[in-house]
Amino acid sequence: MMKQTMEQSKQLIDQLEETHVLSKEAFISLINSRTPELSDYLFEKSRRIRQEHYGNDVYLRGLIEFTNYCKNDCLYCGIRRSNKNASRYRLTKEQILSCCDEGYSLGFRTFVLQGGEDSHYSDEMLLDLIREIKTCYPDCALTLSIGERSYASYKAFYEAGADRYLLRHETADPVHYSKLHPPSLTLETRKKCLMDLKNIGYQVGSGFMVGSPGQTSAQLAEDLLFLHELQPQMVGIGPFIAHHDTPFALEESGTAELTLFLLGLIRLMLPTALLPATTALGTIDPLGREKGILAGANVVMPNLSPREVRDKYLLYDNKICTGDEAAECRQCIDGRISSIGYQVVVDRGDSKLGGKKNV
Ligand code: 5AD
Ligand code: FES
Repeated sequence: MMKQTMEQSKQLIDQLEETHVLSKEAFISLINSRTPELSDYLFEKSRRIRQEHYGNDVYLRGLIEFTNYCKNDCLYCGIRRSNKNASRYRLTKEQILSCCDEGYSLGFRTFVLQGGEDSHYSDEMLLDLIREIKTCYPDCALTLSIGERSYASYKAFYEAGADRYLLRHETADPVHYSKLHPPSLTLETRKKCLMDLKNIGYQVGSGFMVGSPGQTSAQLAEDLLFLHELQPQMVGIGPFIAHHDTPFALEESGTAELTLFLLGLIRLMLPTALLPATTALGTIDPLGREKGILAGANVVMPNLSPREVRDKYLLYDNKICTGDEAAECRQCIDGRISSIGYQVVVDRGDSKLGGKKNV
């Protein structure tokens, strides 16, 4: 494919801002022809659009990593079933509620229950937990991030009070999907789960890893087109980072630079999306989260898990916020966000687009 001139690339960015979508070929050529100058051009626009919808506000989500047991064996993930070196833990209902309690007093108004696919937590246990959290904190949003479950389970969780669901599609190319996952997991099932979640009424978050092994620009273009089709309220993207106890131990990590460029494109494509500056982005670059906000992101997800389990929920190597420095992620985040002229707000932080519950 011919390389675009800078002028042509800028025109494509203008077009994306106007029409909110581009052809696959146009996305590919934008990704391939990116330069620092083009990124700056993109980020000026993505920041302005973010500003129009969300001002200088940055929303907080308190991440509670409640189990690192997982029945799946994704090739990239440090808590995959085959990793015999992972030290496994599960939080009790009381431990989870005390995370919420601490989080609430720190100003968190969204709790994200995230974990591996762990059948120890039956639907009944989760329903009880969801009801309890929503009863104790009626002014808070509750997000689930617990992988693939049946339509009936998703519906029951929603009816018990869960508001949002995070389930990344990881890659929208079925062949690439099968290189990152065991045969038991398929892109088709993942997409069906996302459609189910949307139809039930959740505010849905999807997303993908940037720079995962074997990923091409054409696949990234497919990821963008899939997001355009799904129209999720939230999109989480972060660089792939190798974990030493996985089959991908020696694979190269993704870059902050490409992650930021894609964040900018996603902001133009989905102007009201909730876009986290992810922990993986902050891991690959010490200022990654700040740069993410400046590229159009508007959410940060500090860790609310109990200190003693934080260094066990390791999806990838060198994860930040797992040691002594994480004594108070909330303060750390506040400082980082205000240093770049934005402010963390005490708010549920719903999408301006809304799910059925919040329109
Ligand atoms: N590097 C970066 N991100 C990862 N995730 C899982 N393993 C890794 C890794 N090695 C991401 C996946 C998953 C989310 C919870 O974490 O995209 O959906
Ligand atoms: Fe956790 Fe900075 S956000 S230590």
